[in-house]
Amino acid sequence: MGVPTSLKILAVEAADCQKCVLAKTRTQVVFGDGDSRAAVFFVGEGPGATEDLEGVPFIGRSGKLLQRLIEEELGLSRQDCYIANVVKCRPPENRDPKPEEIEACQPYLLAQIEAINPTVIVPLGNFASRLLLETRTGITKLRGQNYQYLGRHLVPTFHPAAALRGGVKVLDRMREDFVRIKELVEAPC
Ligand code: URA
Ligand code: SF4
Repeated sequence: MGVPTSLKILAVEAADCQKCVLAKTRTQVVFGDGDSRAAVFFVGEGPGATEDLEGVPFIGRSGKLLQRLIEEELGLSRQDCYIANVVKCRPPENRDPKPEEIEACQPYLLAQIEAINPTVIVPLGNFASRLLLETRTGITKLRGQNYQYLGRHLVPTFHPAAALRGGVKVLDRMREDFVRIKELVEAPC
């Protein structure tokens, strides 16, 4: 099965997007990666330096940890999932994405979710979780429960960068969240 036309069209459209100032400093747009029919859709914050150079999301240190959790806790490979970010272009110096950049980029993420139609959406960290749950509440409070988003399951968890900084305690919480993700994938209702 090929990539749905709508996803292909979207990627081509995004490749020369100029809808926010991040277009000026990016090397390339990092649209998304993985299976266009994935059951699990991970949403990060924005590309880092490596991702900006390679054009693929989550391939640096955070990506390695995400990949490990996907394999160990879900029994899947990263290519079985779909991975994208809240903003598709790297914020300079890895600064936080600004509200106007997040807003400008949001239609791509929503269209990706529609095209892929995952069973479970997994926002990683504050930016993705706050955006999709439309809240100011932080990830530490949000995580640990399952939510609904446009008729799909949504399971927020920490960004892998937080586990790289925060160590085993954060990683253990992430593993707990991944156990619930697996349950939802296997028994969607
Ligand atoms: N962190 C993110 O949020 N996204 C990436 O693609 C890489 C690191
Ligand atoms: Fe377009 Fe999103 Fe890149 Fe901004 S971050 S230029 S909205 S693709």
